[in-house]
Amino acid sequence: MKYSIPRGTVDLLPESTKTWQYLEQLLRTIASNYNVQEIRTPVFEMTELFQRSVGETTDVVNKEMYTFTDKGDRSLTLRPEGTAGVVRSFVENKLYVNPDKLTKLYYMGPMFRYERPQKGRQRQFHQFGVEMLGLESPYVDVECMNMAVTIVESLGLRNVKLHINTLGDEESRENYKVALKSHFKPVLPCLCPDCQARYEKNPLRILDCKVDKDNPSFKTAPKTQDFLTDSAKAHFEKVCALLDDLEIDYEVDPNLVRGLDYYCHTVFEVISEDPELGNAATLGGGGRYNSLVEEIGGPSTPGVGFAFGMERLAIALKNKQDVAEEGIDVYIMPMGDEARDLAVQIISMLRANGFRCDMDYAGRGMKAMFKTADRMKANYTMILGEEEVKNEVVNIKNSVTREQVTIDLGKIVEFLEGEYGNE
Ligand code: HAM
Repeated sequence: MKYSIPRGTVDLLPESTKTWQYLEQLLRTIASNYNVQEIRTPVFEMTELFQRSVGETTDVVNKEMYTFTDKGDRSLTLRPEGTAGVVRSFVENKLYVNPDKLTKLYYMGPMFRYERPQKGRQRQFHQFGVEMLGLESPYVDVECMNMAVTIVESLGLRNVKLHINTLGDEESRENYKVALKSHFKPVLPCLCPDCQARYEKNPLRILDCKVDKDNPSFKTAPKTQDFLTDSAKAHFEKVCALLDDLEIDYEVDPNLVRGLDYYCHTVFEVISEDPELGNAATLGGGGRYNSLVEEIGGPSTPGVGFAFGMERLAIALKNKQDVAEEGIDVYIMPMGDEARDLAVQIISMLRANGFRCDMDYAGRGMKAMFKTADRMKANYTMILGEEEVKNEVVNIKNSVTREQVTIDLGKIVEFLEGEYGNE
């Protein structure tokens, strides 16, 4: 029996984990600049949590969840996104009791959606997400968008655009839903069965239907902006004014509604024009959710957040040469059994002193070992033959200058520290 990887998942081999480590490090640094703290929640949660928060009429909940019953007869689901779990934890751990008023959290990790795999779309994928909970202020919407833009800029990604829209408050959305219903009513028999169900339960979801998206009625559908209450309009105007002040480039996209149910007011997406991304051009998205905390059983607490798909960031990462090609400090090349025993002692001493080292355990010839040292990008090689063991010395060669020196065993660390210090 041959085993192969499950459809829609990938192995990240050492050549790509370098890019991923670079990406993760950069995201952590930006999170720290924005004073956003990390939160880690489980990869599975009660199924009901996602039904309640992401919404029963969404594709994510209806078609894409990995749901299973555990041995205790509980229905659990591998998280399809991070917001629901973070908000659950925020409520359960009473993080809302915060004298600073705003709780800023980030997470990074695998998410699971049963989707048709293609470039930038997997069944197990990774998100870097941010949630800012506690304030309804448009300044916080802009703090989120600013952070999202900082991320793409820091990665050196070009041809990326911030698209924004507003869904308004509860009242605006109710008015909008009524308008959508009367708009789609005459064409309802021509729409797919899913849309017919959405029409009754949540007509907003019709707008992100992948089956009916080319139906002419979609082009003429009413826009959210025409149904805003005065206060919702003022919120959005302030968001736009703040983006203008910060000279953040954005485009108001009246068709942007997002595919998850918890949003209100500002919604946004970071879209790349990189042709390599094809249908996976949306690098990240998010928006405001003012009722979600309450929906999940907490005290009324507004929130806003976003998440990037990390696979998509990795594909779009053009400046791959930025990813430091890190090698090791020392590669030790012992010749013979006695030399190998001594090399083991030397390597542990060097590692204890903070040097990145490796050595040959295969008992190969000098030429093969030098080739390995090259592949490992070792700054120094250390030759240890019978002669060296007898005289209690090692031969250390600088891989760049090719200079070779003989050093007493007791002075190796001192020598290397001197070399690095002199750089
Ligand atoms: P989302 O738009 O569903 O939002 O996902 C965010 C990002 O995750 C997408 O823009 C995309 O880059 C990536 N993504 C989604 N599905 C896949 C997939 N199958 N394969 C690869 N990448 C994928 C959310 O998940 C919200 N929780 C974001 C948010 C946080 N809103 C407020 N706070």
